[in-house]
Amino acid sequence: MWIRNAWYVAGWASELSAEKPLGRTFLNEPVVLYRKNDGTAVALEDRCCHRLAPLSLGRIEGDALRCMYHGLKFDSSGACTEIPGQDRIPPTMKVRAYPLVEKQKLLWIWTGDPDKAREEDILDWPYLDSPEWSYKPGYIHYKANYLLIIDNLMDFSHLAYVHEKTIGSQSLAETRAHVEHMPFGLRIHRILDNDIPPGFIRELKNLGDRVDRWNIYDWHVRGNILAMDSGFARLGTGGHAGDRSNVVEFRHLSVQTPETEKTSHYFFGHPRDIALGNEILDDRLLKTVTYAFDEDRAMIEAQQKVLDITPDFKMQPIAHDSAIFQARRMIENLVH
Ligand code: FES
Ligand SMILES: [Fe+2]
Repeated sequence: MWIRNAWYVAGWASELSAEKPLGRTFLNEPVVLYRKNDGTAVALEDRCCHRLAPLSLGRIEGDALRCMYHGLKFDSSGACTEIPGQDRIPPTMKVRAYPLVEKQKLLWIWTGDPDKAREEDILDWPYLDSPEWSYKPGYIHYKANYLLIIDNLMDFSHLAYVHEKTIGSQSLAETRAHVEHMPFGLRIHRILDNDIPPGFIRELKNLGDRVDRWNIYDWHVRGNILAMDSGFARLGTGGHAGDRSNVVEFRHLSVQTPETEKTSHYFFGHPRDIALGNEILDDRLLKTVTYAFDEDRAMIEAQQKVLDITPDFKMQPIAHDSAIFQARRMIENLVH
């Protein structure tokens, strides 16, 4: 179950080249991605219409892609333009081409009704593409349904347990989130005034022994996008609503693109507005975030295995689960 008419993240722009095609499955559809000579990114069905060989095992030739089983060649619209040893090309010889847009370092794909694909609906999130923010792109492959990952992102009560030894703290786990309905999905505020800053924040900037912290999540139901505004300010200076010229700010983007019913792609970035261009810090933060996400992954993949043998199970909600149920309902309403 997923929303078909939505832009989903297909990958980081840096993953694509004009030399080698990339095969990846989205929403159960095998897709091959590559770049044309002029750099434009292309997405085609990753199965040759001749005998279903994956085109991702093929060869990029200029703007076209050649199947390396028997040599059929396809242009970037998916039309077959060459059949070795045969002059006539039947019009049925074609593969599907998907709308694909490269924007702010991400590739966005549309696998739904092509007439409904509007480029202006793609998330505008400049932090991935701005010299004023620093980060390294992240990716995790998940052996779990994307809804289990969304449940986890909407739920802060797991922090003190799953992340007991890393990012978890009792104050984070006990703070009840405020959930607001928005046209795009949900906005979740988690404000922690007068909290102890984590060690790495102290290294970046001396904000004092106690700080005001904020995490404001915008969760977009179409595309499963979580875009976060988070930061640390000197105690009593207004937090997120105060003067931001002397704070440490992060943005965070987490996107789950379903691969199959039981596997998902997870793309993420964690830009910061301090120590720009410091690649050692870029690597360190990527490692820290990936490590914490791997803690989630271990639990969620184990949960998926139990769900597989318990198909009729219905979740029993606790007080912390309100955002989860609201998010799931929003998805269901757009699927049916
Ligand atoms: S399967 Fe592609 S050319 Fe035969
Ligand atoms: Fe987590």
